[in-house]
Amino acid sequence: MIGEANGRRVGITGLGVYVPDKVVTNADLARIVETSDEWIVERTGIRERRFATQDEALTDIALPAARDALAQAGADPGSIDLLVCATVTPDMMFPTSSALLADSLGMPDAAAYDLLAGCTGFVYAIAQAYGMVASGLSQRALVVGGDVLSKILDYDDRSTLVLFGDGAGAVVIEPVTQGGFLGFELGADGGGGESLWLPGSGSRHFEHPERYVKMNGREVFKFATRVLVSSARDLLDRVGMSVDEVDVYVPHQANIRIINHAARKLGFPPEKVVVNVQKYGNTSSGSIPLALADAVADGRVRAGAKVLMTGMGAGLTWGSGLIEWTEEKAA
Ligand code: ACO
Repeated sequence: MIGEANGRRVGITGLGVYVPDKVVTNADLARIVETSDEWIVERTGIRERRFATQDEALTDIALPAARDALAQAGADPGSIDLLVCATVTPDMMFPTSSALLADSLGMPDAAAYDLLAGCTGFVYAIAQAYGMVASGLSQRALVVGGDVLSKILDYDDRSTLVLFGDGAGAVVIEPVTQGGFLGFELGADGGGGESLWLPGSGSRHFEHPERYVKMNGREVFKFATRVLVSSARDLLDRVGMSVDEVDVYVPHQANIRIINHAARKLGFPPEKVVVNVQKYGNTSSGSIPLALADAVADGRVRAGAKVLMTGMGAGLTWGSGLIEWTEEKAA
Protein backbone atom coordinates (compact mmCIF):
# COMPACT_ATOMS: atom_id res chain seq x y z
CA MET A 1 0.00 0.00 0.00
CA ILE A 2 1.32 3.41 -0.83
CA GLY A 3 -0.29 6.82 -0.76
CA GLU A 4 0.17 10.52 -0.36
CA ALA A 5 -1.86 12.29 2.32
CA ASN A 6 -4.43 14.30 0.41
CA GLY A 7 -7.18 15.25 2.81
CA ARG A 8 -7.54 16.94 6.15
CA ARG A 9 -4.21 17.81 7.80
CA VAL A 10 -3.53 15.28 10.53
CA GLY A 11 -0.48 15.26 12.78
CA ILE A 12 1.06 14.20 16.07
CA THR A 13 0.29 16.58 18.95
CA GLY A 14 1.73 14.56 21.84
CA LEU A 15 4.49 11.97 22.29
CA GLY A 16 5.34 9.95 25.39
CA VAL A 17 7.73 7.06 26.00
CA TYR A 18 8.63 4.70 28.81
CA VAL A 19 11.19 1.97 29.46
CA PRO A 20 11.39 -0.36 32.48
CA ASP A 21 13.94 0.61 35.17
CA LYS A 22 15.96 -2.59 35.00
CA VAL A 23 19.10 -2.12 32.87
CA VAL A 24 20.64 -5.29 31.45
CA THR A 25 24.17 -4.83 30.12
CA ASN A 26 26.04 -7.03 27.67
CA ALA A 27 28.16 -8.19 30.59
CA ASP A 28 24.99 -9.31 32.39
CA LEU A 29 24.02 -11.43 29.36
CA ALA A 30 27.53 -12.86 29.11
CA ARG A 31 26.84 -14.46 32.49
CA ILE A 32 23.81 -16.28 31.01
CA VAL A 33 24.97 -17.34 27.52
CA GLU A 34 28.34 -17.68 25.81
CA THR A 35 28.80 -14.19 24.39
CA SER A 36 30.82 -11.05 25.04
CA ASP A 37 30.37 -7.30 25.14
CA GLU A 38 32.83 -7.06 22.27
CA TRP A 39 30.84 -9.45 20.01
CA ILE A 40 27.52 -7.76 20.73
CA VAL A 41 28.83 -4.20 20.24
CA GLU A 42 30.66 -5.07 17.03
CA ARG A 43 27.80 -7.04 15.43
CA THR A 44 24.84 -4.99 16.66
CA GLY A 45 25.90 -1.69 18.31
CA ILE A 46 23.88 -2.63 21.41
CA ARG A 47 25.48 -1.90 24.80
CA GLU A 48 22.51 -2.33 27.11
CA ARG A 49 18.73 -2.80 27.08
CA ARG A 50 15.86 -2.66 29.57
CA PHE A 51 14.03 -5.78 30.76
CA ALA A 52 10.69 -5.69 32.53
CA THR A 53 10.45 -7.35 35.93
CA GLN A 54 8.46 -10.54 36.35
CA ASP A 55 5.37 -8.52 37.34
CA GLU A 56 5.54 -5.97 34.50
CA ALA A 57 3.46 -6.63 31.40
CA LEU A 58 2.87 -4.55 28.29
CA THR A 59 0.15 -2.30 29.67
CA ASP A 60 2.31 -1.47 32.71
CA ILE A 61 4.97 0.04 30.49
CA ALA A 62 2.51 1.49 27.97
CA LEU A 63 0.44 3.40 30.53
CA PRO A 64 3.10 5.94 31.55
CA ALA A 65 3.94 6.53 27.88
CA ALA A 66 0.26 7.08 27.03
CA ARG A 67 -0.25 9.45 29.96
CA ASP A 68 2.76 11.53 28.91
CA ALA A 69 1.55 11.69 25.29
CA LEU A 70 -1.90 12.88 26.41
CA ALA A 71 -0.38 15.45 28.78
CA GLN A 72 1.93 16.78 26.07
CA ALA A 73 -1.00 17.12 23.68
CA GLY A 74 -3.10 18.75 26.40
CA ALA A 75 -5.79 16.20 25.54
CA ASP A 76 -8.45 14.99 27.95
CA PRO A 77 -8.36 11.14 27.93
CA GLY A 78 -12.15 11.12 27.57
CA SER A 79 -11.82 12.86 24.20
CA ILE A 80 -9.93 9.92 22.63
CA ASP A 81 -12.28 7.99 20.35
CA LEU A 82 -9.75 5.50 18.92
CA LEU A 83 -6.95 3.57 20.62
CA VAL A 84 -4.73 1.33 18.53
CA CYS A 85 -2.06 -0.65 20.34
CA ALA A 86 0.69 -2.18 18.19
CA THR A 87 2.38 -5.07 19.95
CA VAL A 88 3.36 -8.72 19.65
CA THR A 89 3.51 -9.10 23.44
CA PRO A 90 0.07 -8.04 24.73
CA ASP A 91 -0.73 -8.80 28.39
CA MET A 92 -2.79 -11.69 26.93
CA MET A 93 -4.61 -12.30 23.62
CA PHE A 94 -7.89 -11.05 25.06
CA PRO A 95 -9.02 -8.85 26.56
CA THR A 96 -6.80 -6.84 24.26
CA SER A 97 -4.18 -4.55 25.74
CA SER A 98 -5.81 -1.64 23.90
CA ALA A 99 -9.14 -2.28 25.66
CA LEU A 100 -7.35 -2.57 29.01
CA LEU A 101 -5.44 0.66 28.35
CA ALA A 102 -8.59 2.53 27.30
CA ASP A 103 -10.22 1.45 30.54
CA SER A 104 -7.26 2.41 32.75
CA LEU A 105 -6.89 5.77 31.01
CA GLY A 106 -10.58 6.66 31.15
CA MET A 107 -11.64 6.50 27.48
CA PRO A 108 -15.23 5.23 27.50
CA ASP A 109 -15.90 6.40 23.94
CA ALA A 110 -12.84 4.84 22.34
CA ALA A 111 -12.83 2.03 19.81
CA ALA A 112 -9.83 -0.04 20.88
CA TYR A 113 -7.94 -2.85 19.20
CA ASP A 114 -4.49 -4.42 19.07
CA LEU A 115 -2.51 -4.53 15.86
CA LEU A 116 0.01 -7.25 15.01
CA ALA A 117 2.70 -6.24 12.54
CA GLY A 118 5.92 -7.19 14.34
CA CYS A 119 8.45 -4.40 14.65
CA THR A 120 6.58 -2.46 11.94
CA GLY A 121 3.56 -2.25 14.24
CA PHE A 122 3.98 1.39 15.19
CA VAL A 123 4.19 2.56 11.58
CA TYR A 124 1.16 0.45 10.60
CA ALA A 125 -0.77 1.83 13.59
CA ILE A 126 -0.06 5.49 12.87
CA ALA A 127 -1.13 4.90 9.25
CA GLN A 128 -4.41 3.42 10.51
CA ALA A 129 -5.02 6.28 12.90
CA TYR A 130 -4.13 8.80 10.21
CA GLY A 131 -6.74 7.25 7.90
CA MET A 132 -9.43 7.21 10.56
CA VAL A 133 -8.82 10.84 11.53
CA ALA A 134 -8.36 12.09 7.96
CA SER A 135 -11.69 10.54 6.97
CA GLY A 136 -13.45 12.17 9.92
CA LEU A 137 -14.36 8.86 11.53
CA SER A 138 -12.11 9.61 14.50
CA GLN A 139 -11.54 13.05 15.99
CA ARG A 140 -8.62 12.21 18.22
CA ALA A 141 -6.68 8.93 18.36
CA LEU A 142 -4.09 7.47 20.67
CA VAL A 143 -1.54 5.12 19.11
CA VAL A 144 0.56 2.98 21.41
CA GLY A 145 3.55 0.95 20.24
CA GLY A 146 5.34 -1.25 22.69
CA ASP A 147 6.72 -4.66 23.45
CA VAL A 148 8.02 -6.71 26.34
CA LEU A 149 10.14 -9.01 24.23
CA SER A 150 12.14 -10.17 27.24
CA LYS A 151 9.14 -12.37 28.07
CA ILE A 152 9.30 -14.31 24.79
CA LEU A 153 13.07 -14.70 24.44
CA ASP A 154 14.85 -18.01 24.78
CA TYR A 155 17.45 -17.48 27.51
CA ASP A 156 19.48 -20.36 26.04
CA ASP A 157 19.70 -18.80 22.56
CA ARG A 158 22.53 -16.27 22.39
CA SER A 159 21.70 -15.30 18.82
CA THR A 160 18.36 -13.72 19.82
CA LEU A 161 18.78 -12.99 23.55
CA VAL A 162 21.31 -10.22 22.98
CA LEU A 163 19.27 -8.30 20.39
CA PHE A 164 16.02 -7.31 22.08
CA GLY A 165 14.75 -5.11 24.91
CA ASP A 166 11.52 -3.74 26.36
CA GLY A 167 9.97 -0.31 25.84
CA ALA A 168 6.88 1.58 24.77
CA GLY A 169 5.80 4.83 23.19
CA ALA A 170 2.53 6.59 22.47
CA VAL A 171 1.35 9.44 20.26
CA VAL A 172 -1.83 11.50 20.05
CA ILE A 173 -3.00 11.89 16.44
CA GLU A 174 -5.57 14.53 15.45
CA PRO A 175 -6.27 17.35 12.97
CA VAL A 176 -3.62 20.10 12.89
CA THR A 177 -3.44 23.44 11.11
CA GLN A 178 0.19 23.17 9.90
CA GLY A 179 2.30 20.27 8.65
CA GLY A 180 1.16 16.77 9.55
CA PHE A 181 1.47 13.42 7.79
CA LEU A 182 2.57 13.50 4.15
CA GLY A 183 2.25 9.83 3.18
CA PHE A 184 2.77 6.16 3.96
CA GLU A 185 4.12 3.01 2.31
CA LEU A 186 3.34 -0.35 3.94
CA GLY A 187 4.00 -3.93 2.85
CA ALA A 188 4.17 -7.55 3.91
CA ASP A 189 5.72 -10.82 2.72
CA GLY A 190 4.39 -13.82 4.61
CA GLY A 191 6.54 -16.05 2.38
CA GLY A 192 9.53 -14.95 4.44
CA GLY A 193 7.64 -15.24 7.71
CA GLU A 194 9.57 -18.18 9.07
CA SER A 195 12.75 -16.12 9.18
CA LEU A 196 11.41 -14.53 12.34
CA TRP A 197 8.65 -16.36 14.12
CA LEU A 198 7.01 -17.48 17.35
CA PRO A 199 5.87 -21.00 16.42
CA GLY A 200 3.91 -21.92 19.54
CA SER A 201 1.88 -18.75 19.82
CA GLY A 202 -1.48 -19.43 18.20
CA SER A 203 -4.02 -21.88 16.82
CA ARG A 204 -1.63 -23.62 14.41
CA HIS A 205 0.62 -25.08 17.11
CA PHE A 206 -1.16 -24.21 20.28
CA GLU A 207 0.66 -26.81 22.37
CA HIS A 208 3.92 -26.38 20.52
CA PRO A 209 6.82 -26.25 22.95
CA GLU A 210 8.43 -23.42 20.98
CA ARG A 211 7.12 -20.49 22.94
CA TYR A 212 10.13 -18.32 22.16
CA VAL A 213 11.28 -16.13 19.30
CA LYS A 214 13.15 -18.00 16.60
CA MET A 215 15.12 -16.17 13.97
CA ASN A 216 17.31 -16.72 10.95
CA GLY A 217 19.53 -13.70 11.59
CA ARG A 218 21.21 -13.64 8.19
CA GLU A 219 17.92 -13.80 6.29
CA VAL A 220 16.42 -11.05 8.44
CA PHE A 221 19.54 -8.97 7.97
CA LYS A 222 19.28 -9.23 4.17
CA PHE A 223 15.55 -8.49 4.24
CA ALA A 224 15.99 -5.51 6.58
CA THR A 225 18.75 -3.85 4.58
CA ARG A 226 16.70 -4.24 1.40
CA VAL A 227 13.31 -2.98 2.59
CA LEU A 228 14.58 -0.07 4.69
CA VAL A 229 15.96 1.38 1.47
CA SER A 230 13.17 0.42 -0.95
CA SER A 231 10.32 1.52 1.33
CA ALA A 232 11.87 4.92 1.98
CA ARG A 233 12.69 5.46 -1.70
CA ASP A 234 9.21 4.45 -2.85
CA LEU A 235 7.51 6.78 -0.39
CA LEU A 236 9.76 9.75 -1.18
CA ASP A 237 9.12 9.19 -4.91
CA ARG A 238 5.36 9.06 -4.31
CA VAL A 239 5.27 12.35 -2.40
CA GLY A 240 7.77 13.99 -4.75
CA MET A 241 10.42 14.66 -2.14
CA SER A 242 14.18 14.15 -2.27
CA VAL A 243 16.33 12.65 0.47
CA ASP A 244 17.91 16.11 0.93
CA GLU A 245 14.52 17.54 1.87
CA VAL A 246 14.16 15.08 4.76
CA ASP A 247 15.49 16.64 7.98
CA VAL A 248 15.46 13.60 10.25
CA TYR A 249 15.61 9.87 9.46
CA VAL A 250 14.18 7.57 12.15
CA PRO A 251 14.79 3.92 11.19
CA HIS A 252 13.68 0.97 13.30
CA GLN A 253 16.43 0.35 15.86
CA ALA A 254 17.35 -3.28 15.22
CA ASN A 255 21.08 -3.24 14.60
CA ILE A 256 23.57 -0.42 13.96
CA ARG A 257 24.91 -2.20 10.87
CA ILE A 258 21.44 -2.35 9.32
CA ILE A 259 20.85 1.34 10.14
CA ASN A 260 24.24 2.44 8.77
CA HIS A 261 23.72 0.42 5.60
CA ALA A 262 20.31 1.97 4.93
CA ALA A 263 21.48 5.51 5.76
CA ARG A 264 24.46 5.17 3.43
CA LYS A 265 22.42 3.73 0.55
CA LEU A 266 19.75 6.41 0.92
CA GLY A 267 22.34 9.18 1.27
CA PHE A 268 21.56 10.46 4.76
CA PRO A 269 24.49 12.12 6.57
CA PRO A 270 25.01 10.81 10.15
CA GLU A 271 23.64 14.00 11.75
CA LYS A 272 20.19 13.30 10.24
CA VAL A 273 20.05 9.68 11.41
CA VAL A 274 18.56 8.92 14.83
CA VAL A 275 20.34 6.08 16.63
CA ASN A 276 19.64 4.86 20.16
CA VAL A 277 19.97 1.10 19.67
CA GLN A 278 23.00 1.21 21.99
CA LYS A 279 20.78 2.05 25.01
CA TYR A 280 17.64 0.01 24.35
CA GLY A 281 18.40 -2.76 21.82
CA ASN A 282 15.51 -3.68 19.55
CA THR A 283 12.26 -2.80 21.32
CA SER A 284 10.05 -3.82 18.37
CA SER A 285 6.96 -1.59 18.31
CA GLY A 286 8.51 0.72 20.92
CA SER A 287 11.59 1.42 18.82
CA ILE A 288 10.44 4.25 16.54
CA PRO A 289 8.62 6.30 19.22
CA LEU A 290 11.63 5.91 21.56
CA ALA A 291 13.93 7.13 18.79
CA LEU A 292 11.55 9.99 17.94
CA ALA A 293 11.52 11.07 21.60
CA ASP A 294 15.32 11.20 21.69
CA ALA A 295 15.35 13.31 18.53
CA VAL A 296 12.77 15.69 20.02
CA ALA A 297 14.94 15.95 23.16
CA ASP A 298 18.11 16.72 21.19
CA GLY A 299 16.30 19.37 19.11
CA ARG A 300 16.43 17.64 15.71
CA VAL A 301 12.69 16.93 15.59
CA ARG A 302 11.06 20.35 15.93
CA ALA A 303 8.22 22.27 14.29
CA GLY A 304 8.56 22.19 10.52
CA ALA A 305 11.07 19.32 10.43
CA LYS A 306 10.33 16.65 7.82
CA VAL A 307 10.74 13.30 9.54
CA LEU A 308 10.95 9.95 7.74
CA MET A 309 10.26 6.83 9.82
CA THR A 310 10.81 3.31 8.47
CA GLY A 311 10.22 0.06 10.28
CA MET A 312 10.57 -3.60 9.37
CA GLY A 313 10.09 -6.84 11.20
CA ALA A 314 8.16 -10.02 11.74
CA GLY A 315 5.55 -10.96 9.15
CA LEU A 316 7.72 -10.16 7.36
CA THR A 317 6.48 -6.58 7.24
CA TRP A 318 7.82 -3.13 6.49
CA GLY A 319 6.50 0.40 6.44
CA SER A 320 7.43 4.06 6.14
CA GLY A 321 5.66 7.19 7.26
CA LEU A 322 6.61 10.77 6.46
CA ILE A 323 5.49 13.68 8.63
CA GLU A 324 6.09 17.40 8.88
CA TRP A 325 6.38 17.85 12.64
CA THR A 326 4.09 20.27 14.43
CA GLU A 327 4.12 21.63 17.96
CA GLU A 328 0.39 22.20 18.21
CA LYS A 329 -1.64 21.39 21.28
CA ALA A 330 -5.04 19.72 21.18
CA ALA A 331 -7.71 22.02 19.85
N1 ACO B 1 27.63 -14.00 20.93
C1 ACO B 1 28.66 -14.62 20.36
N2 ACO B 1 28.55 -15.31 19.20
C2 ACO B 1 27.35 -15.36 18.63
C3 ACO B 1 26.23 -14.72 19.16
C4 ACO B 1 26.40 -14.02 20.37
N3 ACO B 1 25.40 -13.38 20.98
N4 ACO B 1 25.18 -14.93 18.35
C5 ACO B 1 25.62 -15.66 17.33
N5 ACO B 1 26.93 -15.94 17.49
C6 ACO B 1 27.82 -16.71 16.63
C7 ACO B 1 27.08 -17.63 15.72
O1 ACO B 1 26.78 -18.84 16.39
C8 ACO B 1 28.07 -17.83 14.59
O2 ACO B 1 29.00 -18.79 15.02
P1 ACO B 1 29.51 -19.90 13.98
O3 ACO B 1 30.17 -19.12 12.87
O4 ACO B 1 30.44 -20.70 14.81
O5 ACO B 1 28.29 -20.62 13.53
C9 ACO B 1 28.81 -16.51 14.54
O6 ACO B 1 28.50 -15.81 15.76
C10 ACO B 1 28.39 -15.63 13.37
O7 ACO B 1 26.98 -15.67 13.27
P2 ACO B 1 26.24 -14.86 12.17
O8 ACO B 1 24.79 -15.14 12.30
O9 ACO B 1 26.90 -15.04 10.85
O10 ACO B 1 26.55 -13.37 12.64
P3 ACO B 1 26.10 -12.06 11.95
O11 ACO B 1 27.28 -11.22 11.65
O12 ACO B 1 25.12 -12.32 10.86
O13 ACO B 1 25.33 -11.34 13.12
C11 ACO B 1 23.10 -10.96 13.88
C12 ACO B 1 24.24 -11.98 13.72
C13 ACO B 1 23.59 -9.85 14.77
C14 ACO B 1 21.93 -11.66 14.51
C15 ACO B 1 22.75 -10.42 12.49
O14 ACO B 1 22.50 -11.47 11.61
C16 ACO B 1 21.54 -9.54 12.54
O15 ACO B 1 21.58 -8.47 13.10
N6 ACO B 1 20.45 -9.96 11.88
C17 ACO B 1 19.24 -9.20 11.91
C18 ACO B 1 18.58 -9.48 13.20
C19 ACO B 1 17.53 -8.49 13.48
O16 ACO B 1 17.74 -7.32 13.40
N7 ACO B 1 16.37 -9.03 13.84
C20 ACO B 1 15.28 -8.29 14.16
C21 ACO B 1 14.90 -7.37 13.03
S1 ACO B 1 13.27 -7.38 12.67
C22 ACO B 1 12.60 -6.98 14.03
O17 ACO B 1 12.96 -5.99 14.51
C23 ACO B 1 11.67 -7.91 14.68
